[in-house]
Amino acid sequence: MTDNNLNDDWWKQAVVYQIYPRSFKDANGDGLGDIPGITSKMQYLRELGIDAIWLSPFYPSDLADGGYDIIDYRNVDPRLGTMQDFDAMVSAAHQEGIKVIVDIVPNHTANKHAWFLEALAAGRGSTARERYIFKEGSGPNGEFPPNDWQSLFGGPAWERVEDGQWYLHIFAKEQPDLNWNNPEVHEEFKKTLRFWSDHGTDGFRVDVAHGLAKKLDGASMKDLSHWTVHDSLSHDGTHPLWDRAQVHDIYREWRQVFNEYNPPRFAVGEAWVVPEHQYLYASPDELGQVFNFEFAIANWFSQDFRTAIRDGLQAAKSSGSTATWVMSNHDVPRHPSRYGLPQAPSKATHQLPKDWVLRDGTTYEENRELGTRRARAAILMETALPGSVYIYQGEELGLFEVPNIPWDRLEDPTPFRTRGRYTEKGRDGCRVPLPWNSQDAPHEASWDSRFGTGASFGFSPSDATAGSQSADPHLPQPLWYKDFAVDVEQQDPTSMLSLYKACLSHRAALLTSAHNTSVTWLDEGDEVIAYTRQAADNSGYTAIASITNFGKNAVALPEGDLILSSIQLDDPALLPQDAGAWIGIK
Ligand code: GLC
Repeated sequence: MTDNNLNDDWWKQAVVYQIYPRSFKDANGDGLGDIPGITSKMQYLRELGIDAIWLSPFYPSDLADGGYDIIDYRNVDPRLGTMQDFDAMVSAAHQEGIKVIVDIVPNHTANKHAWFLEALAAGRGSTARERYIFKEGSGPNGEFPPNDWQSLFGGPAWERVEDGQWYLHIFAKEQPDLNWNNPEVHEEFKKTLRFWSDHGTDGFRVDVAHGLAKKLDGASMKDLSHWTVHDSLSHDGTHPLWDRAQVHDIYREWRQVFNEYNPPRFAVGEAWVVPEHQYLYASPDELGQVFNFEFAIANWFSQDFRTAIRDGLQAAKSSGSTATWVMSNHDVPRHPSRYGLPQAPSKATHQLPKDWVLRDGTTYEENRELGTRRARAAILMETALPGSVYIYQGEELGLFEVPNIPWDRLEDPTPFRTRGRYTEKGRDGCRVPLPWNSQDAPHEASWDSRFGTGASFGFSPSDATAGSQSADPHLPQPLWYKDFAVDVEQQDPTSMLSLYKACLSHRAALLTSAHNTSVTWLDEGDEVIAYTRQAADNSGYTAIASITNFGKNAVALPEGDLILSSIQLDDPALLPQDAGAWIGIK
């Protein structure tokens, strides 16, 4: 826990733990994680050493897109609890010194949102339709979509309604895009920001932050299906959908709302934009911070990480903000799997080789030992950097992607709608409910012996605790989860969990200071990422060095105290391949 946790700058060097609420912890036995479940794990979170939790959407939703299709922005999904449960969760978090960040989804509502139902009923030309993007179709009778835009989940980005008009949905058809040219939309979101701030929320993660300002006329684009920062589309503020100059007016307006509070509310933008544009979103007049996805999509190549780190630090400097580092989240395959796969070429997208996603257990199976070894090195590389670290639930356990969930048990819209037409498994593999204890192990499921049924590694209450039988988790857990259960890792000093705790406590003690953000690069050659940072006062050191070796040859460590290493070192002065270390320099 950092000493600056109490002041306005708490977020600048924070360790933020992302919770995907429906898969974190189920308190009532319905197989779905919930808010009381989060409250019940506050001690675990404090012991891990994080500063804040960010909750992916927990609002009422039909789950067409994992909760990112929101029916009511100012409420809790009744399956996940009540507003009282939310308030209790916030106060439990605050008691442990943990801040709370919630997800705001301003690009689209759910199609069951009261506004959209009203728009459907009110018909063409109504003010209710003005809140969304309704258009007449093309073709003699308007029977074709207004233009050729494709949804990011596949298929046309337009859906026709009963009276013949079409509405835009950049994501699933259950997620109609809002019209940000309408002042009513602006007012509504300000109300939502105030609502959660008044309920004690400390900050916001802003979904699809680069997509709100759209230019609807005259643009033709066959394929919008890029999620990466390095796509072929223009980045000069004139692209019809993404990263348009006008989007920044919205965040300047939101900043006024954030600043109504003391301390001002924090925000971090999910903006898949080129590094040169990140600083705009992160400016203190706008959101304050933005995700650096270059780090998240980097495969295990020193050059890719070096570029991501340099770009991230540069973007932070240009905006006067701090950098962000993330390896996994609810949208990308878990990084120990990615790092253990046969590597795609450098600068590859975050997408895995298709065969692996479709794998039946043989093709492209990840090398788990290698993936774990690299993930251990990576957390040492990441947590010594200045800026905020975002950890995705289960990452601290070293979980792998679950790529082989049967098709009929998937929830993500990608598999069903996509270009893939059942060729991409989508994002459920990183959203499987967490294993909390190994005692409460499920037995083999009749429908697939690799998965469990009947119990859930403590994700849901055990039958004895619940007094009745808990439902199976909403996504099936593989039986190999047993080795990664929290109780197993808590007892093992060499586990990923123990390593994460060690990294976070050393980071807090030795490095973290909101104003200490500079990095000095050490030149150890192309295959090594090595840097030093000034050590915190009273740490007993002047600098801390973090060294990660990607290359075949072992590298000599700088002179000093070995504080942490990702593996047991045979020779304390030499760092082998795919390993990392921290050295305290006096
Ligand atoms: C963001 C979310 C993703 C969601 C999409 C649409 O990218 O992270 O999970 O599907 O927005 O809301």
